[in-house]
Amino acid sequence: MMVIGLQWIDSMNSRQIWGYDVDPRDLAHYPVFYREIVEMVRPSVEDDNSVVVDCTVGSGGHSQLLLETFTNIKVIGFERDPGMAEKAKKNLLPFADRFSLINDNFSRFAFYMAGLENRLAAVIYDFGISSWHLDDDDRGFAIKENSPLDMRLDPGCKVSAYDIVNNFAEKDIADIIYRFGEERHSRKIARYICFAREKEPIRTTDDLSRVVLRAKPVGNKKKGSVHPATKTFQALRIYVNNELESIRESLSESWKYCKAGGRIAAISFHSLEDRIVKNSFRSLATGCYCDDHRYCQCDRISRVKLITRKPLVPSEQEMSENNRSRSAKLRVCERIME
Ligand SMILES: C[S@@+](CC[C@H](N)C(=O)[O-])C[C@H]1O[C@@H](n2cnc3c(N)ncnc32)[C@H](O)[C@@H]1O
Repeated sequence: MMVIGLQWIDSMNSRQIWGYDVDPRDLAHYPVFYREIVEMVRPSVEDDNSVVVDCTVGSGGHSQLLLETFTNIKVIGFERDPGMAEKAKKNLLPFADRFSLINDNFSRFAFYMAGLENRLAAVIYDFGISSWHLDDDDRGFAIKENSPLDMRLDPGCKVSAYDIVNNFAEKDIADIIYRFGEERHSRKIARYICFAREKEPIRTTDDLSRVVLRAKPVGNKKKGSVHPATKTFQALRIYVNNELESIRESLSESWKYCKAGGRIAAISFHSLEDRIVKNSFRSLATGCYCDDHRYCQCDRISRVKLITRKPLVPSEQEMSENNRSRSAKLRVCERIME
């Protein structure tokens, strides 16, 4: 198997690596781990009529990369955000005969893939939001853009970030910021939020980041350090979109749709996502679903083998080309059949 992080990969440019005319800078979106994703799915996509599912199409970077590199495959994509789905459709128009898009949550994987059991060559995930979301100044995802506090990825989400900070109880706000942001100062931030909203509602990203800054003052900010409100924003976004539960649900289903040798590749950007991927893959590999693996009482039938025992991290070259890849981790497993 071709392995990642090899020196020769770093020392060549992408056109030389693949022997195809695919350069990430020419794609609709510069996809994270673009070389590794191609190499990871290569062993399972090389026969005709291979089907790959891209669970997080975004603007279509990974889908386009795979469609251009493997000219015999078909890609089915999930994209939850209707605006993003429109963008992807446009970007992937040249591949309309080999690409289809489902504008829905990948948590509904089993519903849409019914009939494709044991058939897929690969399933890929690239969690979170895209740079387009961060640049969109009326969605409320970015701290640096002053926009209404919304953060809903799709219209089906019941609460917005505005609802949480203006209507939830202080304890619930603190719990959300602690659980989904791993923020040590969650209680203090929640207290300041509730204090501020007594005067007037917290309407915008600027309003919220000012409140967080009051609760969590910073001394001399080091160059390049993250904004103090980053964890609070992450927590609200994860809660609003029920992101972690979607990942859990999808990973508990997608392996059933892979053929023997079919691969699942998951890219995560923070420890909460990576922990779910690690535990899901481990349970599938050991076949043990007991709460405590030491006292296992189940059948222990392995469903997958781990291709990456430790998560892969981006090469120096990728980090210098694509700043967004800095915190990315990639885990891959492969379906085995008894
Ligand atoms: C990091 S971006 C993907 C970028 C993409 N891989 C590319 O190369 O262009 C993640 C995308 O997944 C979408 N997304 C997030 N959670 C989702 C879910 N549960 N179901 C479907 N799409 C989701 C987001 O709206 C976003 O567009």
